[in-house]
Amino acid sequence: MQHLIATNDFSIEQINNILQDAARFKNNGYMPALLRNKLLFTLFFENSTRTRSSFEVAAKKLGASVIHLDPSKSSTSKGETIEDTFVNLGAMHPNGVIIRHSSNEIPQALADMNMAPVINAGAGNYAHPTQALLDLFTLQEHFGSLEGKHVAIVGDIANSRVASSAISLLPRFGVKVSLVAPAPFMPIETKLTHYEKLEDVIDKVDVIMSLRAQLERHKTPIFEDYDTYASHYCITPKVLGDRDIIIMHPGPVMRNIDISDEILNDNRCKVLTQVTNGVFVRMAVLKMLLLDS
Ligand code: CP
Repeated sequence: MQHLIATNDFSIEQINNILQDAARFKNNGYMPALLRNKLLFTLFFENSTRTRSSFEVAAKKLGASVIHLDPSKSSTSKGETIEDTFVNLGAMHPNGVIIRHSSNEIPQALADMNMAPVINAGAGNYAHPTQALLDLFTLQEHFGSLEGKHVAIVGDIANSRVASSAISLLPRFGVKVSLVAPAPFMPIETKLTHYEKLEDVIDKVDVIMSLRAQLERHKTPIFEDYDTYASHYCITPKVLGDRDIIIMHPGPVMRNIDISDEILNDNRCKVLTQVTNGVFVRMAVLKMLLLDS
């Protein structure tokens, strides 16, 4: 039984197959018979706009049925453990369970029970594998070969599962990753090149991947004043100039703190392309896990 907890669960060959399938889905549209009779549960213990709806759209485009279990209305709120919830869902024989949780370990722990394929839709600051795959697809769509391309990840890297997954996936495809953040947002240990100031690296990069401050993961407020933070890290026309750099962000964007209104409307900004591509990449992931494995 194959699960997707982190991108390292997939070989390069499998990831290339996902990228090729995603491109086919993007070019050819719906394949409503492919996952007919397949059943998926979605279980989101943290809020989501993009990932949950993208998985649901992807599943429906392939003909799968999706049942969403709202944790606030599930029996976990009556004290049932998440493992027991998962066992009971497993007893209904789904073809996959898509889960988001604040814990880094829960998706892997459920996968280890081998009741159903588990797809991690975001776990703590550990991993968000389908975000990394859709980012890889978006980069490949824009650049073709990624060998030697340079991505600067800017923002709250220490608390970001998007950063963790990008740092683990992108170098497997020849991409150099550098980190840009103030000290409290920088991982305590990193082997990657890192900078406190964006101006020290901006002329060397092809891509800026901006990240939101993960306020929900800060035990105490890190910055009182995000306007001061923004004056150093917000991607604005003044910061970007006329450089041929694409701007990415997983969303939700904190407007004028992460990226300015003007840059969100600039054609170098790929934020909505990432969302569009997320559906096709998740279609390809579902095909791989539910049909090809
Ligand atoms: N990119 C992302 O995970 O967004 P959501 O939190 O809206 O799913």
